[in-house]
Amino acid sequence: MTGFSAEWLALREPVDHQSRDRALHNKVVTYLDDIAYRNNGVVRLIDLGSGSGSNLRALAPDLSAIQHWTLVDYDPALLKAARAALVVWADSVLENSESARSNSMNPLSQLILVKQGKRITVDFLCEDLALNIEKVLLQPADLITAAAFFDLVARSWLDRFCNALTIPLYTVLTYNGVEKWSPPHVSDRKVLAAFHRHQQTDKGFGAAAGPSAASIMEDLLSARGFSVQTTQSPWLLNENNRSLIEQLASGSAAAALETKLIDTATAQSWEQSRREAQTCEIGHIDLFALPQPNK
Ligand SMILES: C[S@@+](CC[C@H](N)C(=O)[O-])C[C@H]1O[C@@H](n2cnc3c(N)ncnc32)[C@H](O)[C@@H]1O
Repeated sequence: MTGFSAEWLALREPVDHQSRDRALHNKVVTYLDDIAYRNNGVVRLIDLGSGSGSNLRALAPDLSAIQHWTLVDYDPALLKAARAALVVWADSVLENSESARSNSMNPLSQLILVKQGKRITVDFLCEDLALNIEKVLLQPADLITAAAFFDLVARSWLDRFCNALTIPLYTVLTYNGVEKWSPPHVSDRKVLAAFHRHQQTDKGFGAAAGPSAASIMEDLLSARGFSVQTTQSPWLLNENNRSLIEQLASGSAAAALETKLIDTATAQSWEQSRREAQTCEIGHIDLFALPQPNK
């Protein structure tokens, strides 16, 4: 497993939500409003690599009154963390079969909650998407969505994914390789090159597309007749994001060192100065793809 901790996902959640491109988000909301209008007010979404549920918390408050989400992850601990975080986030919980069956620690039972007047049913699916993406895409849904997920996958997997995709896709915060730290450090370029090499190592799907993932997806989906819109959604970090900057610096330095493209002294000096950086920009891409009926 790639091993994302619930603590790391919670630390990045507010910045992730703030960084998503608002105009594209609004287009997706308008698109789903139209689906809901034609479908008794109901929309169904599948969130790939859902982690602890951040993507749902960003999108659901703006969607129509009745929503059905399926959160898919291969890490049962993160699905459990998602359930716990959603119960806290909700204004009220209508059904939480885990608490009804107090002996059961099954994190996968359904949750029905209310947030800002929206009734949100959440199913939790523990599935390895490297193996079973085609099966997951067969489930009925109006939108496939994901956040901070697609840079983990391989080009060959993206091919499989795009071949199997028949409905709209909205994916946010795919890392695009842009990093700007201020003030600069003499090893920024070297460390970034090593970090990118690490980004392209196998994260369970074959050699990862890393920073190229969004542009590969754009090409593959366009070639399959989807209309694709992309926008930038960078993290723009400053003094107010000190903990995130520190964790990012340490995580990036460790990943870069693992490649052996830099030595320990370079990694340590870079990490120390980046933990104290004043600002940092990390580039991402958001993407909304709609199948075109006549192609
Ligand atoms: C960077 S995290 C993003 C989590 C969440 N979408 C968010 O925005 O906070 C990537 C997620 O992909 C999940 N993941 C990685 N490989 C996976 C696989 N093979 N099958 C299913 N989920 C996977 C991880 O467990 C993790 O939750």
